[in-house]
This record gives sequence, C-alpha cells and structure tokens, in this order.
Amino acid sequence: MTTAHAPAKVILFGEHAVVYGRPAIAVPVSQVRACAVVDDAPKGQGIVIHATDLKLQQQVGAPIITDDPAYPLEATVRHTLERLGIEGIPDLTLTVSSTVPMASGLGSGAAVSTAIVRALAQHFGRRLTSHEVSDLVYQTELIHHGTPSGVDNTVIAFERPVYFVKGKPIEILHVGQPFWLVIGDTGTRSPTRDVVGDVRCAWQAKPDKYEALFDRIGTIAVQAREAIGAGEVRALGKLMHENQELLQAIGVSSPELERLIGAARAAGAMGAKLCGAGRGGNMIALVSPEKAQAIAVALRKSGAVNAIVSEVKLPQSVNGKQASL
Ligand code: MEV
Repeated sequence: MTTAHAPAKVILFGEHAVVYGRPAIAVPVSQVRACAVVDDAPKGQGIVIHATDLKLQQQVGAPIITDDPAYPLEATVRHTLERLGIEGIPDLTLTVSSTVPMASGLGSGAAVSTAIVRALAQHFGRRLTSHEVSDLVYQTELIHHGTPSGVDNTVIAFERPVYFVKGKPIEILHVGQPFWLVIGDTGTRSPTRDVVGDVRCAWQAKPDKYEALFDRIGTIAVQAREAIGAGEVRALGKLMHENQELLQAIGVSSPELERLIGAARAAGAMGAKLCGAGRGGNMIALVSPEKAQAIAVALRKSGAVNAIVSEVKLPQSVNGKQASL
C-alpha cells in the first residue's frame, strides 16, 4: 500500500491577472490536504478509483463523459501511467480523500491530482521531480478550469512559496521573515472555471480597462515579492488592501467575502483580501501571531464556516528531503 499527500494553497497576490501573464505569489497551506492511497488489487480487476468525499467509484478505461466528476481523477491516472511508461492497465485500487474544501480558492483539484500522481509514482518505485508532477497536474487543471495559469499546480507540486509568471521559469520566493495568515471560508462554493470565464468576457468587452487593472495587480505582486524578501510584513498588509480593491474593480468579490475581510480588519489584521477565483470561497488576513486566534474567532463570529491559522516560511525540505526543482 502506498500513501501520498499534497497540501492546499492560497494566492497572496495576483489572482486573475496571472491568467493574463502578470505575476502572482502563492504559498502552500499544509493544514488541509489531499490524500491518495494505492493498493494492489486482485488480478483482472484493473484500476478502480474510490473518491470518498465525492462518494463515487470509477473504473479506469471504462466509458466516461468529460463533465463526470470522476473524469479529472481518471484522466490524472491515465496521464501518470503514460508518463511512468507503465504498459497496459495494472490491477490497483486508488482511494482518494481530501480535507481541502472544493471550489473555494484553496486549490482542491490540484491538491487531489498531485496526491494521485505522487502515490502512483511511489507505488511503481519511480521518482518524479516537482516539475514533472506539476506538468502532469497542469494537464488535469486544463480539464478542471479550461484556461488555468498554472499557478495552482506549481505551488502545490513544489510545496514552496512561489513567484509565478505563466510560461517563465519557476521562482521559489525568498521569505525574509516568517509571517502569519488566517484563512477564512465563506462557505459559498464558487467554481474557478465560471469566475475566470466571466472575467474573460468582461476583458473582451473592455480590454483597455481590464489590461490596466491587471497591470496594477502585477505591479503590486512585484512590490510584494520585494516586501516578502525584505521581511517587511506591514508593507505587505497595505499591498493586500490595494490588491483587494482591484479585485473588487474586476468584479470578483462578494458580500460574504467583504463581510469577512471587514471583520478581519476590524479585529486588527494588517491586511486582508479574497484568495483564488473569488465570488465566494476563502479570504486571507495577514496577522501578527499574537492576534491570530482572536482574528480566527472574529471571522467565525462573522459567518466563516472555517478559519485556519497558517505560518508562511521557506521550508528547508519537503517530506524530509530537499525538493528537486
Ligand atoms: C485560481 O486559483 C487562480 C486564478 O488566477 C485562475 C488561474 O490562475 O488559473 C483565478
């Protein structure tokens, strides 16, 4: 039996603009994660996937339609076996579970795919680099989201804070001084594909306006990289406020997100913004470690269905080993 995990992620700066070539900053969040378990199965079974949260079961290779919720899981398995050079269909049972809430800005699809790729590679005694894992997960992100920037698969497969620009080499972010986030969940699910599609329509209707907004978001991400590297945590809070105003302007905030962002600021957060596609899902607040628990309580009192406290730092190792880039 082989078990592998993958963390969730949050985007600190640059969501949406990153789809249009501007930089984004994202960090892994290990408090919630996906898990994949691969077990040998009786001869002739083929591969059966059990997705416990989705309450579904799927045979790999059996007919399946592309909007079936099992399709991305099935496709991840097929692509990974192909990449590993495994011929034919081995006899395996794959059980997938996750504590990452779906459609809520924390990268649940990419986390599940990453756990599957890692579990299959380990099961066959193979080592894939973080790059190879990320590339495989990107193929599934195309199924989930249509036009993904690639930031989710990158930050989750590398399990490091990243400064990401589509099509450019990955830059692991230097974190000058650790800082703390509280991540609050509105409880409203909001599929990334829909929100990204709406932003695309708005961009097509008013390209000059949206290009200017994306430019400003990109500039904030560049400034944030400097502030994170220099350990200037307070400056980061201000940049979060500015990024949130621009996300409002592109039309991806929501009353629930605004309520939690307001509550975090009122309780003493240095900055707060939505994270991920928006229109629901999660928000993040930049906090001092002393205030983190009080801000988590304030978020719950304002309607958050969950509040996670997470420290952002540059890990020396991933799963006890130095990650390959
Ligand atoms: C989703 O986590 C982030 C978006 O920028 C979409 C993407 O980058 O593919 C909204």
